[in-house]
Amino acid sequence: MLSGTYGIALAALLLAADLPLAAAHATLAPRATVGGRERVSINAGWRFQRFTSNPDSLSYSTLKSWILPSGNDFIKSSGSKKTRPTGTQPGANLNFTQASFNDASWEAVNVPHDWAIKGPFNAPGISGGMGKLPSNGVGWYRRVVSFSAEDAGKTVFLDVDGAMSYAAVWLNGNLVGGWPFGYASFRLDLTPYVKTGADNILAIRLDNPLDNSRWYPGAGIYRNIWLVKSNPVHVAQYGTFVTTPTISSSSATVSLKVEIENKGTSSQVVDVVTEIRPQDESGVQGSVVATLSKASATVAADGKVVVSASATVANPKLWGPKPNQTPNLYVAITRLSVNGQVIDTYETPFGIRTITYDKDTGISVNGQKIRVQGTCNHHDLGSLGAAFNYRAQERQLQMLQEMGNNALRTAHNPPAPEFLELADKMGLLVLDEIFDCWKKSKTKNDFSLIFDDWHEPDLRLFIRRDRNHPSIIAWSFGNEIPEQGGASGGTIGAELRGIVRDEDPTRQTTAGMNSASPDQAMAAQLDIIGLNYNGEGIGVSTSSSWPGFRSKFPDKMLWSTETSSCLSSRGTFVFPVTSGMSALVSSNSGGGEDPIGMRVSAYDLYSDWWASGSPDKVFFLQDKHPYVAGEFAWTGWDYLGEPTPYNDKARSSYFGIIDLAGFKKDRFYLYQARWAPNVRMAHILPHWTWPDRVGQATPVHVYSSADEAELYVNGKSAGRLKRGTSSWRFRWDSVVYQPGDLKVITYKNGQEWATDTKRTVGNATKLVLSADRSNIKGDGLDLSFITATVVDANGDTVPRASNSITFSITGPGLISTTDNGDPADFTVFSSLTRKAFSGLALAIIRSNVGAVGNLTISAASSGLTGASVTVQAS
Ligand code: GAL
Repeated sequence: MLSGTYGIALAALLLAADLPLAAAHATLAPRATVGGRERVSINAGWRFQRFTSNPDSLSYSTLKSWILPSGNDFIKSSGSKKTRPTGTQPGANLNFTQASFNDASWEAVNVPHDWAIKGPFNAPGISGGMGKLPSNGVGWYRRVVSFSAEDAGKTVFLDVDGAMSYAAVWLNGNLVGGWPFGYASFRLDLTPYVKTGADNILAIRLDNPLDNSRWYPGAGIYRNIWLVKSNPVHVAQYGTFVTTPTISSSSATVSLKVEIENKGTSSQVVDVVTEIRPQDESGVQGSVVATLSKASATVAADGKVVVSASATVANPKLWGPKPNQTPNLYVAITRLSVNGQVIDTYETPFGIRTITYDKDTGISVNGQKIRVQGTCNHHDLGSLGAAFNYRAQERQLQMLQEMGNNALRTAHNPPAPEFLELADKMGLLVLDEIFDCWKKSKTKNDFSLIFDDWHEPDLRLFIRRDRNHPSIIAWSFGNEIPEQGGASGGTIGAELRGIVRDEDPTRQTTAGMNSASPDQAMAAQLDIIGLNYNGEGIGVSTSSSWPGFRSKFPDKMLWSTETSSCLSSRGTFVFPVTSGMSALVSSNSGGGEDPIGMRVSAYDLYSDWWASGSPDKVFFLQDKHPYVAGEFAWTGWDYLGEPTPYNDKARSSYFGIIDLAGFKKDRFYLYQARWAPNVRMAHILPHWTWPDRVGQATPVHVYSSADEAELYVNGKSAGRLKRGTSSWRFRWDSVVYQPGDLKVITYKNGQEWATDTKRTVGNATKLVLSADRSNIKGDGLDLSFITATVVDANGDTVPRASNSITFSITGPGLISTTDNGDPADFTVFSSLTRKAFSGLALAIIRSNVGAVGNLTISAASSGLTGASVTVQAS
């Protein structure tokens, strides 16, 4: 019996709207393109079941020879392409792949879906490094897709933006193919197995081994999933490549390569015409500014042909990073026609801009030097897990941009496609990275197991998918690769660089090297030398590897692919405070740890031995080597997993500048002081409510871009300080705590710049609620982030409050998750009750699909006056 008949129409999204799905977060609205091609979301209406022991006797080794041919379009040498086996297909008779199987008892889910995020924590076999959430196991997804009689003769593809991991796909009991790498956006051709005018059963098996990652991988179909229906003759998958070889203020040449694929049985003569239009932030297209010369090609049955054309765009509006440039975008609209009839239309958004890489001055975009003020980030979205959500991703990037962050490193894997759409629109630069390991493993079941078979298809797919994004400034083909010290670092590095340059000759390549030395064979294979930590000195050392690399590679650009790894728990301060610029984290006096609470001091001075330490130390060393193009700090946001220094005890990281819930740590302001020096800002730390520290030295630090600052303690000056060289921190380390207030007045060039105050607060009396957005789309996907703050009678945040808060909602919506940013809180994210951490807690809400009206969110806590806030869905 079928679990339900869901057509592949928009209506399907609506049908599943009111399922109680805490982790279901889809993104873009389904998009149908006119002119021969239809792209339809099939995010809604799945049945899902996770199994902790193998339910079906299948495994990658039994499926492998059937799955390998799925990579053929991304293998260059025809001799290396794989042939589909003949004989009985694995899983062909398995109940889960059959229409007759009754999956009514399976969970109803929409994708993007992360099966692990709902918990509970402390999942057997999953370390703190992987987030302690139940990501392992075999997961089956099933869905009915219906094809009408008019679909006969069309080519039908399944496009999966990301499925974690070892995907294998059956349609109507036929094993179509699969893709093991969980971060790949892959396509399978369903056409031979489609039944038109009928319901079809699509079944997807995923398999997440234990020990497959150094961080939280997520689990399931965690990105969007689409059906693409087209004429058998069409633009191939990621089949366009736009370049802009010459650019001046009066004109730009736009060149386009289009790969045409013919899945039909007869050869076709195809005309290709492309027009270029400007495209604004919301995707609205302007009028045609150029038309590429018409190209024609004969494409043999089952063949592919690449055609090229170019055009000149007059007075081009360049794409450039914010804040000093504008991220203008264009779209190339390509139409294929046969005998005068349009059979396919394909859109390629792109930007016109130049990048130069200079050994002395670093990156320039459109001739303007851009110092890389970057952060590394993992792919999870905090309490929402790996399940992609457009608004949650946008919020992450907006907060980073507010800090002056202008570049993002996708540590250590391909991001969701929409991540790059956002970076393009928002004017952020991207270092797009693919691998955390090659043939040698870092964890038992990581990518090393499949590197030999899959590195070429995965790398070509990744570059082809992403190369039209103007935000991307470089490719990274490895992070801290275990081979880096040996000869194979050179040979494999050369092969990977060759693949990247073959797919995109316009951008340089890099990799993040730790234990790095200039004589290592791998270094020679990088266009840009990328160092993790070594440039700024490991631990407290200030000895830099930059001079050695610069003298060995005098013509290469250098940058810090990873810096700092500073650790902190938001709002937690541990005494005494090191007097150094940076210190190793430890539970010894002055080492910044509160091991019982599993907290690290938020003075932002502590890191582990392999790291380069506090932001202050990194800034200082970067400025000592001004030819270095800049840095990518580890990390912008806290992420699930890797809870150094409480490795197997906590569940999420301490590295973030912003915590897992999206609350700014003090460190945010330290980066903002350096990276956005024109923002009038002064920020005092710590908070000033220390009943247990009366009469004790309690250092007061201030982050600001001002050049002088005077601190007043209960109205009395504690001294006026000048800012040090390459330092954005003023410190008054011998202030003795008495209740009262702190005020700092800062100055730039003798003029008052910015002030900040902190005062001793009273007991918690009430809650305050605020929404990051009070109007959201009623599409079931858009989110509002609701902050609950525990305050005293004056409305001041109670800095160490940990009151238990219960959230509720009325109106057509629901609370997806709650969080507080504490890496040691094991309350499941779906819980409506959440303890405040350092005075704050978060609830993420969304509307029901199609909802119009008010959502009222309330928060209650025993002994405190409650609060509510209204968000309008429309
Ligand atoms: C780096 C590594 C990152 C992360 C970080 C933590 O060595 O590249 O993935 O593990 O350390 O400090």
